[in-house]
Amino acid sequence: MNDPLPHPTVNERLIVDLLQELYRRFGLDYRNYSPTFLSRRITAYAKKSNLYSIEDLVQNLLENEKNLDVFIESFSLPTTRMFRDAELFQLIRDTVIPLLDKKHLSKVWSAGCSTGEEAYSLAIVLKEELPDRKVLTFATDLSERSLHTAKKGIYQLRRMRAYTSGYQAGGGRAEFSNYYTADHENAMMNAELKTNIVFAQHNLVTDSTFNEFDLILCRNVLIYFNRSLQEHVLNLLLESLRPGGILILGDKESIRSMSPRKDLLDIDRAYRIYQKTE
Ligand SMILES: C[S@@+](CC[C@H](N)C(=O)[O-])C[C@H]1O[C@@H](n2cnc3c(N)ncnc32)[C@H](O)[C@@H]1O
Repeated sequence: MNDPLPHPTVNERLIVDLLQELYRRFGLDYRNYSPTFLSRRITAYAKKSNLYSIEDLVQNLLENEKNLDVFIESFSLPTTRMFRDAELFQLIRDTVIPLLDKKHLSKVWSAGCSTGEEAYSLAIVLKEELPDRKVLTFATDLSERSLHTAKKGIYQLRRMRAYTSGYQAGGGRAEFSNYYTADHENAMMNAELKTNIVFAQHNLVTDSTFNEFDLILCRNVLIYFNRSLQEHVLNLLLESLRPGGILILGDKESIRSMSPRKDLLDIDRAYRIYQKTE
């Protein structure tokens, strides 16, 4: 018997057909995700489901909605943690927030927020640095499952202990444990913090901008897209910034730098922080 679809022999043309079919039938647009990413996710799904040909895979997905849900969720790699790249959170406190127009500062966006850890980290930093301002954090993702976890705001206590060092290294001004209540296994983020965060589903590929933000974080998301889709999403993010607003892409994205633009100032090259000037 053959092995389930071995990497990298997944027939490229059939993948293109499959993606086209998902788009045509369900409006799911993965056509411009990076080929390596697509190939890995499709192969992993096929192996798990014991599928031996791309035709079986297509049939498996198009004839059963539950399978399709599992397949779509497998495209969302929710790896994240609080105060990921702690140094960046120190930079947000010391460099980014002082650059923002305090008179207007009211809305920030964590785009591709996964299970919410980035949004809670950002909300904590904003609360500590701007105690007298109500700043709303909009946190969006494609994955319903991740958003469900994010909205609950309940995380394993074991992980929260590990996040404490990130909080401190990122310039935390209080005790991290002030922000949650814990039982013996889980920690629940404080209700007050949660009222400053709006979680919602948003697809960076197919949805349009929905607000004007002072600050946008979009980290570890563009890596899944091909070059032209990266450009498309970058434009969407820039359109969503108010003049003077700041975009942070983080240090992992594969795009080397933004194409030079008159309306963008480089604030930090390592963490790809840009300010919109006009
Ligand atoms: C690796 S996580 C990054 C989480 C967080 N930003 C961080 O850096 O810790 C990538 C997230 O991007 C989301 N994502 C992928 N494609 C997306 C799209 N088209 N629109 C919105 N979110 C997307 C995935 O669902 C996943 O939760």
